[in-house]
Amino acid sequence: MYSLSELEQLCSECKKCRLCSTRKNAVFGEGSDRADIMFIGEGPGEQEDLQGRPFVGKAGKLLDKGIEALGLSRESVYIANIVKCRPPGNRVPEDDEAASCIEYLRWQVKLIDPKVIVLLGSTAGRNIIGKDFRITRQRGNVIEFGKFKIVPTYHPAAVLRDDTKKADFWSDLKLAVKIYGQIKNC
Ligand code: URA
Ligand code: SF4
Repeated sequence: MYSLSELEQLCSECKKCRLCSTRKNAVFGEGSDRADIMFIGEGPGEQEDLQGRPFVGKAGKLLDKGIEALGLSRESVYIANIVKCRPPGNRVPEDDEAASCIEYLRWQVKLIDPKVIVLLGSTAGRNIIGKDFRITRQRGNVIEFGKFKIVPTYHPAAVLRDDTKKADFWSDLKLAVKIYGQIKNC
């Protein structure tokens, strides 16, 4: 059994897939190691790669707004991605890259043991729920997944590109907090 900091160290030196050759920094994830709510995105973008931190670019600012609007803080939740190294030009991670990397995420989920997992976008959905995952159909629903409750929603970058997704994005985040409240009180 690894600790989170041991896993972070492993990621920083990892060469399990081709994304290692173009990364500046691996982006392990950050937040509370006892978070009840975990957010999972796709993979680092340019700013994340430069800073070694998840969701610190434009999409991250929108996620921050959402987290704050829910009365939470970045420090109280945990934020991670499907792949820890930036795909060149922000392309979608290839299936084999995601498959190589997802073991780290599994460890993170196991160690943090959140109650609710918010999947941000279709890459997170496809790699966690399954290949048939469709964001437009499955967002906004609570999916029972072993001991976790999963709420898929749009990726904040998609919300930035398409304003009509905003209302659904907010209501999905609110749903995640609502079901967390229900779990906590029972
Ligand atoms: N998009 C993601 O999916 N993850 C990040 O960390 C930043 C942007
Ligand atoms: Fe390793 Fe994941 Fe980076 Fe690939 S993306 S090199 S599997 S840490």
